[in-house]
Amino acid sequence: MPFPESFLEELAARNDIVDVVSGYVHLTRRSGSNQFGLCPFHSEKTPSFSVNPERQIYHCFGCGKGGGVINFIMEIENLSYPDAVQFLARRVGLEVPDDGHDENRGRRARMLELNRDAARFFHQQLVAPAGRAGQEYVARRGIVSMVKPFGLGFAPDAWNALTDAMTAKGYSRRELIDAGLARAGKNGGIYDYFRNRLMFPVIDVRGSVIGFSGRILGDGEPKYLNSPDTLVYSKSRSLFALNLAKKSKSGYILLAEGNIDVVSLHQAGFDSAVASLGTSLTADQTRLLARYTNEIVIAYDSDAAGKKAAQRAITLLQPLDMKVRVLQVPGAKDPDEFIQSNGSQAFRELIERSGNQIEYRLEQAASEYDLTTVEGRGGYLKDAAKLIASLPSSIDRELYGMRAAEKAGVSQGAFEGEVARIRKRNASNAHKQQTRDATAPLKAAQPQSRELRYDNVRSAVAEEGVINLLYRFPERFGDLPLSGGDFSSPALGKLFDALTERLRAGRGISLAVLGEAFSPEELSLLANIIAHDEIPPTAAGDAMSDYIRKIQDEKEKAAGQDDLRGYAERLKQKKGYGGKDG
Ligand code: GTP
Ligand code: MN
Repeated sequence: MPFPESFLEELAARNDIVDVVSGYVHLTRRSGSNQFGLCPFHSEKTPSFSVNPERQIYHCFGCGKGGGVINFIMEIENLSYPDAVQFLARRVGLEVPDDGHDENRGRRARMLELNRDAARFFHQQLVAPAGRAGQEYVARRGIVSMVKPFGLGFAPDAWNALTDAMTAKGYSRRELIDAGLARAGKNGGIYDYFRNRLMFPVIDVRGSVIGFSGRILGDGEPKYLNSPDTLVYSKSRSLFALNLAKKSKSGYILLAEGNIDVVSLHQAGFDSAVASLGTSLTADQTRLLARYTNEIVIAYDSDAAGKKAAQRAITLLQPLDMKVRVLQVPGAKDPDEFIQSNGSQAFRELIERSGNQIEYRLEQAASEYDLTTVEGRGGYLKDAAKLIASLPSSIDRELYGMRAAEKAGVSQGAFEGEVARIRKRNASNAHKQQTRDATAPLKAAQPQSRELRYDNVRSAVAEEGVINLLYRFPERFGDLPLSGGDFSSPALGKLFDALTERLRAGRGISLAVLGEAFSPEELSLLANIIAHDEIPPTAAGDAMSDYIRKIQDEKEKAAGQDDLRGYAERLKQKKGYGGKDG
């Protein structure tokens, strides 16, 4: 059941978009009525993310994401539409009118219940006699005391242990399959997805069991089996143990690769350890991290893959303005092994001594060259200067510049000169990009979403123009001699019809109330279109006539082409063209 529009209007009115966005994005630069910041949805160095207080929309000129305040919360908090509405209502202490009819809401709640029951079942198996193999494994890995706090469990070595237990509790086969806990068998039956594995429940920050990760006991393939993405679980947007780490007082979050590392780290007293789940770190996960900390200590495996993953993580974390340190675990393959052989005090010292990301990257750069040769030093100098030029703080630039200069065997002055040259070039590129963004005419860049792509870009430019002016000056253009059917783009036609219909009925057209009738992609497209105000009010009337004429011309042309095509078709049939020999 949709939310009442009056409620959505009220919700949007109380949650000013600048206010809400400011909680996630540092908005600074102003240009016209827009405020700008670094886009939280893609990685960038110069701000192309804009918020328009007047229209209550956000729009990124870089990645094309956009929408109203509800879309913003959906996107950044990773919430469904009704949950985002809840979130914003809570934020301003507004009561949500009877909202219990979202179909998925019921299914989600039920799936979470099933997951919780499954986690309980696995946990009981681990402490029961049937779970001996699991107990022995936990003991061998030295993590017995973590079984309880992590809710670790054991999936018995059987085809129907969990499925039988859960069906007895009233869950259907379909529900078990949808939750990723069972697979459909050949003759209509189902079987347990996780068998003979140590089970790690994945628990989100609200305490719900959203999925599982199962490690094989001993060696074998695959080492880990993870729940598939489901209605309640998205691996790329979840982090293992964040439910525990978010309560840590350590001031940083330790990012490890393996689940076992995380458990072992917590046992050793490092209660802020998390891991990404069976994937390399994603941008969504870094944003999730940024909500709980501003300092990350990367503690990946020591092999080449771990080093590469660390570089990747640094690059992903950089735009979020977080302090990043990279820890190296000498003489061990991973943090778990290091702690098992050297103890937690030794690991604490590693953290304390760990270099920040700049040192780490300078070191990495140095390791790529032979610094005893002139060429090697030259190569290092270039890389190091580029790296240091990208540092926002002049103190950092001086500090690290000094070290790098020494390493490269050049004078500090020469090094600083090189850094200054690069900075100047970067600034001029950034400036060019910004002026390009600001002066770009209303151009029909193809929408981000494939389904919405334009067939006739020329007509689409005019169609976007109509929607832009209609949205900005509704009182002037509420009654145009045009309908969505005249548009070449179905998506733009749909937007146009919805807007005119609502205006005629005296209803609002803010993105907050449009959210239920349109997909996030469609709203993103609308935000993209109305984020522009190059056409001044005085020119709006003329522009509108031009757009309408253009749309009609293009429509006639298309109809003419259809006629022509039809004619050719008929001709072909008459003459028997198209056959092999005619
Ligand atoms: P140990 O070898 O017991 O120390 O395990 P670990 O937890 O440290 O895992 P490892 O360092 O081998 O792997 C790091 C992470 O990569 C794991 O926690 C998993 O999330 C993921 N991973 C490892 N092996 C597999 C696999 O076979 N399949 C999938 N999907 N993910 C895996
Ligand atoms: Mn490992």
